[in-house]
Amino acid sequence: MKYLAALMSLYALLFLAGNSKHESSTFSALADTTDINPNGSSELALLMRKMNQHVQQAREDVQNGRIPQAYPSEFEKIYSATPTTETTKKEYFNHYADVYISALRSYSKSEQENQKKNYNNLVSTCIVCHTTHCPGPLMVIEKLPLD
Ligand code: HEC
Repeated sequence: MKYLAALMSLYALLFLAGNSKHESSTFSALADTTDINPNGSSELALLMRKMNQHVQQAREDVQNGRIPQAYPSEFEKIYSATPTTETTKKEYFNHYADVYISALRSYSKSEQENQKKNYNNLVSTCIVCHTTHCPGPLMVIEKLPLD
């Protein structure tokens, strides 16, 4: 419940900030799932790039009135995927992952009338985890919510 409350207030904040810019060019660099890291990206980092592609596709689907893609069960690997360093996954990582997976399920089952709301909720679960776990991509993720 605590997490849900955090999510709701975060979503409200984003909403108030009018954070709904529509440009998505910044995403193209991150959309590439080929390995850009010469030392080899972690399993978790590669999964994140796929999750990022998925959420961008979802954003386009919402904007174009298309129904959601099927639930991508491969993203459940988020729990076991090896991060870059052992300390990357901090306390509560699994709780944030639960909230993400549950939002992903809801989004994937969305009807047209709640698809945008479920999409925005999904984005806020990326933000909540990133705030404590990996602030780097936040600048990009914070541009994802839709009005
Ligand atoms: C449960 C926590 C959590 C959730 C939820 C989460 N992330 Fe991440 N994300 C991370 C962590 C931790 C890393 C760093 C991975 C590493 O370095 O191994 C990361 C890395 C990334 C990266 C950088 C990948 C790279 O190329 O190195 C992107 C982009 C990203 N996440 C986007 C997203 C998006 C978009 C969502 C929502 C659809 C999301 N994340 C949801 C924790 C999370």
